[in-house]
Amino acid sequence: MQPTQGQIGALKALVFVAAVVPFGHLALSAIWFPDALGANPAEFITRSLGDWCLRFLLATLAVTPLRRATGWNWLLRLRRMLGLFAFFYAVVHFTSYVAFDHLFVVVEILKDIVKRPFITVGFSALLLLIPLAATSTNAMVRRLGAHRWRALHRLVYPIAMLGVLHFWWMVKRDVTEPAIYGVVLALLLAHRLVHAWREARSGRATGAHAVRPDGAGPEAQVPAPTQPAARAASGADSAALRSTDRSPA
Ligand code: HEM
Repeated sequence: MQPTQGQIGALKALVFVAAVVPFGHLALSAIWFPDALGANPAEFITRSLGDWCLRFLLATLAVTPLRRATGWNWLLRLRRMLGLFAFFYAVVHFTSYVAFDHLFVVVEILKDIVKRPFITVGFSALLLLIPLAATSTNAMVRRLGAHRWRALHRLVYPIAMLGVLHFWWMVKRDVTEPAIYGVVLALLLAHRLVHAWREARSGRATGAHAVRPDGAGPEAQVPAPTQPAARAASGADSAALRSTDRSPA
């Protein structure tokens, strides 16, 4: 199945709107119906934003396994947006913590980051997300080169691990929810490791790695005609698809 450019554009618009809805819902509720957010609206907002950040991180990581399982190469065209929404939710989650928990008092925030391990871990995840968001453009992919870009974007796995750990350490008793996120992340990571292992094995068998000093494996060498999405895509997305097709996520 290969949607047309127009269909992909419409799908992107739909995903964009769907991704903005949780934020819009929280913002509008906070302004007009704070009671709808429970006894502690500030806590509800911070937590919901944290949840969405983690969901978008995992959704970003799920794109490649899903693409491999279905053959829907066009899914890659949604990945950058999903990753940027993870970053967006991390920033607003942090902002709501800074505003509601510490009323923007920087010294208090710094003390808290140092003192509470779950905050330290969350803050580290946020810091690590910054270079990924900053290098998400096609121009940055070209500037860094596909190999270095991919190496940098592999950080998304440790970032997601920090996100799960942050959640795990935050909850006092019932760890069911962070455990569910942890299992999903473990499955995504296992998929990546198995795929990398298979590639290395087939690379050894065919000697394919020897002809790719840039580190790209056999999947990158799939002849162009078997990658219809890459051929059909045009413009900026086409460049991103080609250069990031084997990115870690
Ligand atoms: C990638 C970065 C981050 C992710 C994925 C993330 C995710 C989460 C999640 C899933 C929760 C629990 C939500 C729930 O209870 O359902 C949470 C709570 C929380 N996070 Fe984060 N977080 C991140 C970064 C940060 C940062 C940078 C800070 C502050 C420095 C922070 C502060 C908090 C606080 C204070 C809570 C608890 C809210 C409360 O109980 O009032 N998080 N976060």
